[in-house]
Amino acid sequence: MLTANSLSYPRFVAALPGMLLGRLRQRGALRRELAALLQVDEQRIRLFDSGRAAFAALLQLHGVGPGDEVLVPAFTCVVVPNQVPPTGASLRFVDIRRSSMTYDWQLLDLSIRRHTRVVVVPHNFGIACEVPTWLREKHRQVRFIDDAAHGFASRCDGQWLGSYHDGAFFSFEYSKNLTGGIGGFALLPVGDYQPQPALPEVSCADQWRLLATLKAHVLSARWPLLGRIAMAMVRRMGLIYRSGDAEVRDGAPHPAREMPLLSAVLLRSQLARLPATLAHKQQLVTRYRAMLDGVPGIVQWQAPADTHWVRYPFALPFHVVDKARLARELSAACGLNIGVWFDDVIHPAGSFRHGYLPGGAPDAETLAASVFNLPVNINLAADAALARRLQHLQQALARLLREQKGAA
Ligand SMILES: Cc1ncc(COP(=O)(O)O)c(C=O)c1O
Repeated sequence: MLTANSLSYPRFVAALPGMLLGRLRQRGALRRELAALLQVDEQRIRLFDSGRAAFAALLQLHGVGPGDEVLVPAFTCVVVPNQVPPTGASLRFVDIRRSSMTYDWQLLDLSIRRHTRVVVVPHNFGIACEVPTWLREKHRQVRFIDDAAHGFASRCDGQWLGSYHDGAFFSFEYSKNLTGGIGGFALLPVGDYQPQPALPEVSCADQWRLLATLKAHVLSARWPLLGRIAMAMVRRMGLIYRSGDAEVRDGAPHPAREMPLLSAVLLRSQLARLPATLAHKQQLVTRYRAMLDGVPGIVQWQAPADTHWVRYPFALPFHVVDKARLARELSAACGLNIGVWFDDVIHPAGSFRHGYLPGGAPDAETLAASVFNLPVNINLAADAALARRLQHLQQALARLLREQKGAA
């Protein structure tokens, strides 16, 4: 998949000398800069090695424990529900609406029970939404935590995503809006801030792995062949850095660590160019919308104008049995990297189910079987070559829909 959405290879290399400043200074500066951007008190920003660790910290902050229940959106990444069992609380999946990709608020209202303590609010692909006031007032014992992993710097009615509920967690993993390789942060709710206990550092060996893997990702974003060669070499040397099998396959929780120095340095460099990055991505999205509008039957989503799309989603009007294969075919037809997020109600397909039973979330299952996405990445120029690729994709999609109609 095309990653490094806001990072180019020259900027990757240019940022590296910043590591000489040391991790404490770089992390401190990043916290200040994030706070300034989101217009919040710096104490509300807590950096971690991942979004999942930030989520676990928010559960702890809200005192979630045995006897409590956490509601998690169906259509999520397995590492989100993984953080709930260690608290002692139970977890339940709630369906989302196909048309909005977030909760149906009436259904959520009915799903909340006396012992529900936390609701995780999804913002898939970066589409920010706000929980209606009537729902929050009706369930005052519930804390609404934003899963903002896909939507760093998205806004909803002028408010920064994550700043208006009871805390939020963000991700800077390879494929997210800004790329730290790994990394994330919690935006704490307004209140009493305890000093952050020091966490273990990411080991030196892991930091080298991260550097090697990230370099291959960044190369791939600009020069796919070179990137593939670099990735193959990194794999051969056993230097790939990724989520462990225990987390994906067995649902194990994640041991929280500090954000690595490399991530902090790269993120600061991307933050400094954020307005230009957002403007470039907006151009890509405008082109995508126009192309997809030209294929009757393709589904797109309404979103606030200042959405920071992590990738741009579209859905086919039927279930696809093998999404990965179709994505490869469409990619080959147009030369753009077509993605399959999410390929299951609990992504990735084959990961730990946390008790989810098929049929439990019909809308999410339909989304998992029909949603594809386009890259929103600064390494992709909004030029004549893109126009040609989009024309090819439009033709391929129109052909696919015609064939499907003929077969029905
Ligand atoms: C929707 C969603 N939430 C949370 C996460 C977790 O973020 P991280 O990988 O930084 O832990 C991810 C992706 O990995 C995700 O896709």
